[in-house]
Amino acid sequence: MGHFDAFRYDGKRALVVGGATGMGAAAAELVLDAGAQVIVMDYADVSIEGVEAIHVNLGERESIDAALDALDGPIDALFSCAGVADGTPGIERINFIGHRYLIDRLLERELLPSGSAIGMISSAAGLGWEANLELLHELLDTSDWDAAVDWVAANGKADYLSMKQAMCAYVAREAYPLLNKGVRVNAICPGPTDTPLAQANAETWLGFGADYRTDLGIEASTPLEQAMPLVFLCSDAARAITGQTVISDAGYISAGVTNAYPDAAMAAQFLLGRLG
Ligand SMILES: NC(=O)c1ccc[n+]([C@@H]2O[C@H](COP(=O)([O-])OP(=O)(O)OC[C@H]3O[C@@H](n4cnc5c(N)ncnc54)[C@H](O)[C@@H]3O)[C@@H](O)[C@H]2O)c1
Repeated sequence: MGHFDAFRYDGKRALVVGGATGMGAAAAELVLDAGAQVIVMDYADVSIEGVEAIHVNLGERESIDAALDALDGPIDALFSCAGVADGTPGIERINFIGHRYLIDRLLERELLPSGSAIGMISSAAGLGWEANLELLHELLDTSDWDAAVDWVAANGKADYLSMKQAMCAYVAREAYPLLNKGVRVNAICPGPTDTPLAQANAETWLGFGADYRTDLGIEASTPLEQAMPLVFLCSDAARAITGQTVISDAGYISAGVTNAYPDAAMAAQFLLGRLG
């Protein structure tokens, strides 16, 4: 046993929500490789060998309740990965309210014990959360499922950017109360990543920052390249880190903020909510 074992998952149980494809699947395979027992919840069929699959539709509260009933013990690492694109009915439930509901129920049932960690996949689209924090507090204060769905509808926020901002604000705000229970929560905010979801929206998702990547001679991230920081954040090696939304975008936002790559400046300022 050396210090580096803190990066591993031996003897741990990991639950990956949205682990059938893309970054979630990469995270499931990676933690399996790192020694974990892995449970994958997803709406789609799960084809990863060596994991337990539980069906869930994050858009339906009853489906989440049923999936939780199928869980047979506590979880050391929860990866909240599932997400859908703008235009998908129920986006507010699938991308935020459902993930939060699942976490609340896990805590209620003492299935996320002290020492466990939550790693969410937000997005560079969510980075402007601080500029909207006052409004987002209203949603974060509304823990009831139906009331939260109603709040989103009443405020016209059933869109990708708003729900990713809500997720980033949730991570920042809940870090303290969760750490009071010994639980950490972080998120990654990926830039363009080559997954089925991005391919289905290739022009907007993979077109974003394409000039920057061409300039650098790099490609969009692979799912595994995003899974690695996510898996690190839920490992014991990241024990000092909670409440963070880590930007995993190959430096695009930083290059824009500092004008190191001026063509990224406008997009960076917009995504960070700094355009007024
Ligand atoms: N690909 C990108 O460029 C990119 C960039 C930033 C953030 N993201 C975020 O990364 C996360 C993972 O997406 P991905 O790109 O790997 O795509 P993906 O489509 O491969 O993965 C999403 C997973 O969520 C599952 N899912 C969808 N609807 C569900 C529902 N109602 N209930 C349960 N599971 C459901 C899908 O079946 C799939 O397994 C998403 O939250 C997405 O918003 C993606």
